[in-house]
Amino acid sequence: MINTQRKFMLTTFGCQMNQADAQRIRGLLTRLGYIETEEESEADLILFNTCCVRQHAEQRLIGRIQSLINTKKRNSDLIIGVAGCMAQNMQGELLEALPLVDLVFGPNDIEDLPLLLQRATSEKTTGNFAPRGAFDGESADGIVLHRPFSAMVNIIRGCTNFCSYCIVPYVRGPEVSRPLDELTAFITELAGRGVKEITLLGQNVNAYGKDLGIKEGFATLLERIEKIDGINWVRFMTSHPRDFSLETVKRMAQLKKVCEQYHLPVQAGSNRILTEMKRGYTREHYLELITQVRENIPGVSLSTDIICGFPGETEAEFNDTLDLIKQVRYETAFMYYYSPRAGTAAADMPGQIDEEIRKARLAKLIEVQNGIGLEESLKLVGQTLEVLVESEAARNVGHLVGKTRTGRSVDFAGSRDLIGSFVDVTIQKARNWTLSGIMTAKKGVG
Ligand code: SAH
Ligand code: SF4
Ligand code: F3S
Repeated sequence: MINTQRKFMLTTFGCQMNQADAQRIRGLLTRLGYIETEEESEADLILFNTCCVRQHAEQRLIGRIQSLINTKKRNSDLIIGVAGCMAQNMQGELLEALPLVDLVFGPNDIEDLPLLLQRATSEKTTGNFAPRGAFDGESADGIVLHRPFSAMVNIIRGCTNFCSYCIVPYVRGPEVSRPLDELTAFITELAGRGVKEITLLGQNVNAYGKDLGIKEGFATLLERIEKIDGINWVRFMTSHPRDFSLETVKRMAQLKKVCEQYHLPVQAGSNRILTEMKRGYTREHYLELITQVRENIPGVSLSTDIICGFPGETEAEFNDTLDLIKQVRYETAFMYYYSPRAGTAAADMPGQIDEEIRKARLAKLIEVQNGIGLEESLKLVGQTLEVLVESEAARNVGHLVGKTRTGRSVDFAGSRDLIGSFVDVTIQKARNWTLSGIMTAKKGVG
């Protein structure tokens, strides 16, 4: 039998905004009758959901597309599409830069995908890349979940912070919050579909509701979600330290569903660099927030984002960052060396630092943080932690992997019918980020 069902392959780069968009792209394509494949050779549509936050991300994409030249030669009907932030940033130019590409569309064009795909079968096609107004109207059945018990929910789109190094506000537009009632209804619908864990997303979730005129909107939203039956765990990402008020921390501490996982990007440890970055807080303010979070949220796991080699950063200022991570002792950190992005303020600043020096600082940063991360992980050995079972372990037959409330991966022996349920695992071993242990209790389906 010849299988005539059209197949798509979707690769997502970048942050969780893109992961959430991927949920919607999958939903739309599924409704158009496509099925997903992991095999390039059998795909009728190859889509890349791209990121442009650092140059490295862009280079990876270019390499991937160029490697498709033979696949495209063998299948002239194949449509290669580029979505996401790099598409939004380069728009039509991307078709010129990468001749293998047939379709380019931005995050705001996703709803038009059926139309765009139709056009792309006969001609090179681009979305219109226009900003969208209100943030509403997305329904829960319009998304396809990778794991039926876990969903990402975008609560605020865009970013209006314009940190001097960052391209995101230019490609994702200004902050627009999704109305509170609509979000409550959306999450209730997800719970009805069997979702137990949700991750609330935004470049700055702590700004949720500001544009809608709601004060302390993020805490208010969390309190609403606390009352939704079926949802057991709520995560959130990313927080901006400037907008994270003490009142929010205190209100969050009262909520059982909010997981003890706080990702608080600091970016740098020197006040001068923080000012140059336009982050809007000082080292002292940040450390005070960390103290408050630790006091109010027992067992909290802290993580961060750091940039080293920002224009003008001296050795002493870099050492301020090292000193800060030693002081805070994060469980983990996403660390990058500064990558100039055309159009941002920092790209034109004097004192751009040699790539070799930026790389060397990053290596040092990673070395110090990895040491701290491992020491923090070892403290978990012997503890019994609640785990949501996610899947079978990739390379360990008879084993499962799941996540703790703090977002740590745990490997343990168990049968696959436990996937999607909550269990207790006593930790026996800790490596850098993954833990392994032994299941000590089953808690059913939550
Ligand atoms: N909204 C989030 C971060 C989104 S981008 C926040 O403000 O914390 C994710 C991370 O990429 C940033 O936290 C930063 O550490 C890094 N990043 C952004 N622009 C960068 C650049 N030009 N060079 C290197 N790292 C960058
Ligand atoms: Fe970029 Fe700053 Fe906005 Fe984060 S808060 S997305 S780093 S501009
Ligand atoms: Fe990258 Fe866009 Fe996210 S630039 S970090 S995918 S918002």
